[in-house]
Amino acid sequence: MQVKKAIIPAAGLGTRFLPATKAMPKEMLPIVDKPTIQYIVEEAIASGIEDIIIVTGKGKRAIEDHFDHAFELEDTLTKKGKFDILDSVLKTSNVEIHYIRQKQPLGLGHAIWSARKFIGDEPFAVLLGDDIVENGEPCLAQLINQYNQTAKSIIGVQKVSDEETQRYGIIDPKLESGKLMEVNDLVEKPSRGMSPSNYAIMGRYILNPEIFNFLGEHKLGTGGEIQLTDAIQQLNKHQSVYAYEFEGKRFDVGEKFGFIETTIEFALKRPELREKLLDFLKKKITEEELERSLLSNKLK
Ligand code: UTP
Repeated sequence: MQVKKAIIPAAGLGTRFLPATKAMPKEMLPIVDKPTIQYIVEEAIASGIEDIIIVTGKGKRAIEDHFDHAFELEDTLTKKGKFDILDSVLKTSNVEIHYIRQKQPLGLGHAIWSARKFIGDEPFAVLLGDDIVENGEPCLAQLINQYNQTAKSIIGVQKVSDEETQRYGIIDPKLESGKLMEVNDLVEKPSRGMSPSNYAIMGRYILNPEIFNFLGEHKLGTGGEIQLTDAIQQLNKHQSVYAYEFEGKRFDVGEKFGFIETTIEFALKRPELREKLLDFLKKKITEEELERSLLSNKLK
């Protein structure tokens, strides 16, 4: 069966970006001038997804407004001949986007479970907004390609350093040969030195609908939340789950430093900003170096 539906969970509290996320969804924070969730929706569309369900929660109205037609704005841009900007506004307005509310932020697993009626008995994709992946062939399209050949649930992974393994869900592959690996086990945020591998789960999944049997058990896991990783672990006991090391540069926009790095990298790709930004960065570095050498001379 073809993968045509995708879930984008966006009902989390976004505590790492407080106070910005008190009244504004984390998913609407812009990288240069585009909200992070739009990058994710564009990846889904470019991967052949036809229906998207966004799981929202309290205070997330701005997401629905963002993907709605804004007739007044579109009319004004047309009248003013600002067609480039109009294009950027219209880019995602032609895909079917549906919304469902997660009544309480009980965890990622619970958010996915909330969308079960929309998915029905089909394989589906999950994309998390914390990672933006840049690649010629979109990350999700690579996973769908693997699904089409195996009909197995596929988890998108990339290698991280030993120090970083504690921040991610990590897979224990049966055999590390090639990019597609059968999964032996999954561990959510392993303690230092306990990680079974360096393959971290990166917010892109293709899942078979049987996952809902395990999400429906509502078992609490790490952090007292219903974890998707735990349900996948259960699923793996009944039907084998695979991991695929996808190609592409990954930007971690779910935490502050990654968000700033991504903003700089994406701004440097924009011809109208590149030179100005490079001049600014060079000036900043020179000032910092000067200040440091003055300080070290004073200390001598
Ligand atoms: P995160 O833990 O990265 O998001 O969850 P968060 O909870 O919003 O952020 P912090 O950690 O407090 O800063 C991963 C994804 O799962 C969604 C989030 O919106 C995010 O896209 N999520 C998480 C839900 O939809 N519901 C939940 O109950 C928890």
